[in-house]
Amino acid sequence: MCGIVGYTGVQSAAPILLDGLKKLEYRGYDSAGVAVMDQNVIAVHKVRGRIAALCEKIQDGAAVPGFTGIGHTRWATHGAPTEENAHPHLSNDGRFAVVHNGIIENYLPLREELIREGYHFQSETDTEVIVHLMERYYKGNVRQALIKTANRLQGSYALGVICSEEPGRIYAVREASPLILGMGVEENFFASDVTALVNRSRNVIYLEDGEFAELSKESIRIFDCTGRQIDKKATRILWDVQAAEKGGYEHFMLKEIMEQPGAVKATLAPRLKNGGVEFEELAGLVPQLASLRKIVITACGSAYYAGCAGRYALERLCGIPVEVELASELRYSDPLIDEHTLLILISQSGETADTIAALRECKAKGAKTLAVVNVVGSSVATLADYTVYTWAGPEIAVATTKGYTTQVAVLYLLALFFARCLNRAGDGWERMIEAVQSLPRRIQQAIDMNASIPALAKKYHKNPDIFFIGRNTDYAVALEGALKMKEISYLHAEAYAAGELKHGTIALIEEHQPVIALCCNPAIMEKTLSNVVEVKSRGAEVLALTYRDNQKILSVADDLLFIPRVDPLFSAAVEILPLQLLAYYVAKENGCDIDKPKNLAKSVTVE
Ligand code: AGP
Repeated sequence: MCGIVGYTGVQSAAPILLDGLKKLEYRGYDSAGVAVMDQNVIAVHKVRGRIAALCEKIQDGAAVPGFTGIGHTRWATHGAPTEENAHPHLSNDGRFAVVHNGIIENYLPLREELIREGYHFQSETDTEVIVHLMERYYKGNVRQALIKTANRLQGSYALGVICSEEPGRIYAVREASPLILGMGVEENFFASDVTALVNRSRNVIYLEDGEFAELSKESIRIFDCTGRQIDKKATRILWDVQAAEKGGYEHFMLKEIMEQPGAVKATLAPRLKNGGVEFEELAGLVPQLASLRKIVITACGSAYYAGCAGRYALERLCGIPVEVELASELRYSDPLIDEHTLLILISQSGETADTIAALRECKAKGAKTLAVVNVVGSSVATLADYTVYTWAGPEIAVATTKGYTTQVAVLYLLALFFARCLNRAGDGWERMIEAVQSLPRRIQQAIDMNASIPALAKKYHKNPDIFFIGRNTDYAVALEGALKMKEISYLHAEAYAAGELKHGTIALIEEHQPVIALCCNPAIMEKTLSNVVEVKSRGAEVLALTYRDNQKILSVADDLLFIPRVDPLFSAAVEILPLQLLAYYVAKENGCDIDKPKNLAKSVTVE
């Protein structure tokens, strides 16, 4: 949730730190700050509120001399969002400044211990114990003090540290929170994610848990918790600067909606080879597939809904029972999971705390773990036995779109891949491969077929409640469509299995109540049609999502959204497009902060 940046080099540090923090704004935050070292003095500047206020306070960095510094955006977890609780935190002797992303779970006993020893605390945060431990353990060697400090900490932390005794050096530590190093010419960086670095360095190093880094303008040295130096290879970031900018669209979200044909193609194409599906990264898993008794998919939010959509293909093609569980539930349910279980974890950020915890819990029970992740080197990717990346590129908007559709696309590929490995491919193999291969084109068609959505948004944007209904895959997509509407337009939206309405919810259908009916599965069309008639007869206004030649639905619906015909087993990544666009334009009508909705963060790294 928080974001950290660090710089050391030959340029003035403060403007570079501010620029990096701006690139991290999308993560959600409530305060910000920088600490810059000039000669042997550390100056700390922080604000409650937006980075713009910090820029104003320090004149975009011009008022803060020094070539070495650290910065932070805070999303409050321990202690209210105040200037005192903002990072960086300074030690009592003024020697150390620290920024932190994560949660120190044992901070209370540490705080009490430090207070007993005479250390004074300026904030309510868990983080502040770190800077006082650094002061306590410092005997002239920052690296040793850092290792001793880290050994006292329990929980998750990506740390940035500077010491006034070591001008020109910055230190970084990673434990269960992302931390990336950027390599420059006569300058080096660290940040919580690539987006803060990409316009200054394309050569990055992903720190892993338990690793420490010491950066000067000439060098980056990485060592483990014993102080032994280790070599790490650099990764070249191929994302263009534009890829992390808006590319001409008004919002990142609209840009990322429009990127989906390309993102899904980038995710599918390298794996669709020689008329089949190939996953080199799963070679070690293939021999174990025959011993599987069930597949459990676990995730949070939209990633969970992607699992709900992909489970139909996995179950149907592989002939293995598939359960889809919320990670926040799974982690505390003592699940019946063992070595005959394949746990598929879905996460765009790869840093969602509940998903990471569910991974650890199920891995300890013997499950084979397969991560479907978008962020290279993220915690879920690092901890899982196997990782399949969704090559969606950076997703900046808090509300996921291409993250969701590329996750669904990977689940389709896995279904086909496992089916072939298990010799269950059966009839229609070529047709299914073609259906998946054509998804990027179908997604583009679903965008092009719905020019009426801005006008529909004007009609529906004032309704306080909207229902989404569907059956089977349509229901799974309705869940995601409702979440998109809720999280960016702030309208209350609820998704219901269409067959469930008569068991209570239909009591809520009033005159003019908008109901979005997903009608994209011919096999159950009659059933869904009867549900549409049910709500119509009670006064609802029905906005139906279906294909152009579905005369039956066209004759009863009040408004229409269209998709091209797609095999329902593989249609979720197409059906969601009109619903993403509808949510976007309704939110626009409501004047909402579409890319950074209130109360939300891009990555929920605490439980
Ligand atoms: C989706 O629009 C939301 N931002 C949220 O539900 C998100 O999908 C969820 O927090 C999971 O995030 P992850 O995919 O990074 O694990």
